[in-house]
Amino acid sequence: MTVILRTVAEVRAWRRALPAGQALGFVPTMGALHAGHISLMELAKGRAAATIASIFVNPLQFGPKEDLAKYPRPIEQDLALLERAGVDALFLPEVSALYPEGASTFVVEEDVSGPMCGAVRPGHFRGVTTVVLKLFNIVQPDLAVFGQKDAQQCAVIERMVRDLALPVEIMRGPIVREPDGLALSSRNIYLSPEDRAAAPLIYESLQAARTAFEGGERQAAMIAAIGRKVMATDARFTLQYWDVRDPMTLEALTTIPAGAGALFAVAAHLGPTRLIDNITV
Ligand code: PAJ
Repeated sequence: MTVILRTVAEVRAWRRALPAGQALGFVPTMGALHAGHISLMELAKGRAAATIASIFVNPLQFGPKEDLAKYPRPIEQDLALLERAGVDALFLPEVSALYPEGASTFVVEEDVSGPMCGAVRPGHFRGVTTVVLKLFNIVQPDLAVFGQKDAQQCAVIERMVRDLALPVEIMRGPIVREPDGLALSSRNIYLSPEDRAAAPLIYESLQAARTAFEGGERQAAMIAAIGRKVMATDARFTLQYWDVRDPMTLEALTTIPAGAGALFAVAAHLGPTRLIDNITV
């Protein structure tokens, strides 16, 4: 049984009742759960005796023109998935439980949250770091699992945990994809049938770049040009970025250093839907 906890007090009481010394694993989400989310729950279960997920569509991380109001909220279906995955508890707070009237304290990471999604979604990572720190304070997990799908989010949270000396181990889970390569996302349900058919082009652009890298190409500009060229074959995509960056610092690379890895990261609009994806080489 997955116990549903709706208030901070309920989470604290549940946490206190866990056997002392048992590790608690935590997977924060915004719901509309899919196999990508569940893979993170499995990773948490493999590492911790008890597991808790949260579902909270965090208003603070949405821009004024973004999809907060229409973000999918299929809570019954989510609960069934959590039950089936054997997650012990779900924190399902109201907005007022996380943001008391007049809340005026925020967490801002000022380096790795700057480029990429940070540049095109002002305030987004401020919303993410603020809510994740709050969730960590409430849940007090030993381990928290985040998906590599949101590679920059992982880097921002790892930096926050380091900088603020938070007693939480951060673990990254690999990207779960559809058979055609499209990364699973709660927002994929927004795609029209035509857009859904076109969407795997993003992963194809990453694969083309990987092929060039494996063929010996190390110039970031050349690799990005190959990726962008693939994206340009379908005019319905509006590219926000196609970048080659250091996987941890997210610094833009000019040359991929020998023996070091690189993050190839893409964000694009396809019709009304914003899609992101990445690979690490
Ligand atoms: P959400 O988009 O619901 O994602 C929750 C977690 O699932 C994130 O760590 C995300 O990277 C991971 N995830 C999403 N799609 C995935 C996929 N295809 N494969 C593997 N993991 C995947 O990210 C958020 O919510 C929010 O920003 C949150 C961290 C909860 C703060 O509000």
